[in-house]
Amino acid sequence: MKTLVVYSSLTGNTKKVVEKVFEIIREEKKLVALNSNENIDLNEYDRVIVGFWVDKGTADSRSKKFIKSVKGKEVAFIGTLGAEAGSSHGQSVNERAIKLCSENNKFIGGFLCQGKVDPKLVEKMGKFPLKLIHPLTPERLKRIEDAKSHPNEDDFKAAQDYFKKILYNEHI
Ligand SMILES: Cc1cc2nc3c(=O)[nH]c(=O)nc-3n(C[C@H](O)[C@H](O)[C@H](O)COP(=O)(O)O)c2cc1C
Repeated sequence: MKTLVVYSSLTGNTKKVVEKVFEIIREEKKLVALNSNENIDLNEYDRVIVGFWVDKGTADSRSKKFIKSVKGKEVAFIGTLGAEAGSSHGQSVNERAIKLCSENNKFIGGFLCQGKVDPKLVEKMGKFPLKLIHPLTPERLKRIEDAKSHPNEDDFKAAQDYFKKILYNEHI
């Protein structure tokens, strides 16, 4: 069993969670940033774990494109998003990611957690035209505030525990 772990991360949240999960993988493994232009030969791997950041309710386009190129593997995902993983938005993200990973592969599991939102995006949300699409309501401002402390040590541990469970059947 050889595992490939890839990720796309703009501001580092996804990278951090992915690196923590990478640590607990016991078999032969490789970590690649999707923007590194490193050549990936998928034939070398049996299992692929994809880390993405959430853009407009789904996996960012770079990771989405990558997932679509994977066929006949065991596939799992790690995603970070501004909203809470357990929110209805988080649940739709989860469903979309499961569908994406299941298309041509054996889906084995997915982990989502909150990640702080880029202040530049928040600033844009306060201005036209995003102001009309994503108004900074008190609820949205609270979500953005809550996300500021994520991903944190609890998220790292939850991600590691989740993958220990799905990969090695270890129940912590
Ligand atoms: C352009 C843009 C679009 C985003 N869209 C969403 C979204 O639809 N839902 C959400 O919960 N978070 C959204 N976010 C927040 C990011 O998914 C979140 O901050 C994530 O942790 C960023 O990961 P990274 O640091 O690995 O880039 C968006 C962020 C950006 C910059």
